[in-house]
Amino acid sequence: MTLLEVKGLRVEFSGREEPVRAVNGVDLEIERGEIVGLVGESGSGKTVTSLSILGLIRQPGRITAGSILLDGTDLRTLGPEQLRAIRGARVSYVPQSPRGALNPLLRIGKQMENILVSHGEGGRQATAELRRRTVEMIEAVGISDPQRALRAYPHELSGGMAQRAVIANAMILRPDLVIADEPTTGLDVTVQAQILDLFSERVREQGAGALLVTHDLGIVANYCTRIAVMYAGRIVETGPARAVFQRPRHPYTVGLLRSVPVLGQPLFSMPGQAPDLRALPSGCAFAARCANVLPECAAVPPPWREVAREAHRFLCHLEDGAPL
Ligand SMILES: Nc1ncnc2c1ncn2[C@@H]1O[C@H](COP(=O)(O)OP(=O)(O)O)[C@@H](O)[C@H]1O
Ligand code: SF4
Ligand SMILES: [Mg+2]
Repeated sequence: MTLLEVKGLRVEFSGREEPVRAVNGVDLEIERGEIVGLVGESGSGKTVTSLSILGLIRQPGRITAGSILLDGTDLRTLGPEQLRAIRGARVSYVPQSPRGALNPLLRIGKQMENILVSHGEGGRQATAELRRRTVEMIEAVGISDPQRALRAYPHELSGGMAQRAVIANAMILRPDLVIADEPTTGLDVTVQAQILDLFSERVREQGAGALLVTHDLGIVANYCTRIAVMYAGRIVETGPARAVFQRPRHPYTVGLLRSVPVLGQPLFSMPGQAPDLRALPSGCAFAARCANVLPECAAVPPPWREVAREAHRFLCHLEDGAPL
């Protein structure tokens, strides 16, 4: 059974004005053992999609449609207690900032023990057993002096070490699905690579599935088996990472790939801006910026197109996608 199957997800933020349609019909699947890269410009709905899967959308936000199936169970039908039990144990989260994810007042080891205890693993388990689990996990995220790290308060750790601790927290209950939202933004490039190496190792070793949210296509190329490209609250192209990088079809994906700096070549920057999510056009949301726009694009919603034999799909009026 598919580990995660998101179907027709819609999320709105309402206020006094027209609602902000942050997510507009997202379909997303993740199998065990795969790392799916979710990419798109800032504001495209990546975080809102992630928080929806975790059941963490709060007022004034609201999921207005769709289903979020984890091993066939729709998380939208569960109550707050059931969701809380699932979070951490079956679905866990690595947020962008480790500072926000760690409790500044508690030692790292205590925080990890608390996670185990709050999911019923304390009880009859002796303190020594809890300790053993935390040491094992902190070693698994590549911290060489585990005793010292477990005794440390978050502010005593470097950014890279703190993010390792966050990953340890996210993995200690051996979740089936891990959602990491820009987990290495703000870290040095070398630390970034170390963190992503260990993240993908942990995911694979535990047989979990992962959603890796990033705006960095290099990260997707190195760590993801599949890619989902998001624009204005929709996935506009998805497929095996290799196939999409080799022959992107959606004009937006082509633009994103062209925006990756290449040594010795002038930097390309995509013209225009993302549309106002309060007033989306009836047709393709990318029409105002698209170099390949057709007369019908602005008014007629584009259809999904399949690239034969590749599990590669894109949302566009162009039958074969953008010419290269
Ligand atoms: N709490 C909120 N209130 C109103 N609008 C929000 C809120 N959170 C997110 N949004 C809107 O949802 C859109 C998508 O945001 P987000 O998912 O954070 O984008 P990304 O993670 O791709 O940068 C943004 O354009 C933003 O305006
Ligand atoms: S549907 Fe039209 S405007 Fe949208 S990406 Fe395709 S060609 Fe461009
Ligand atoms: Mg975000």
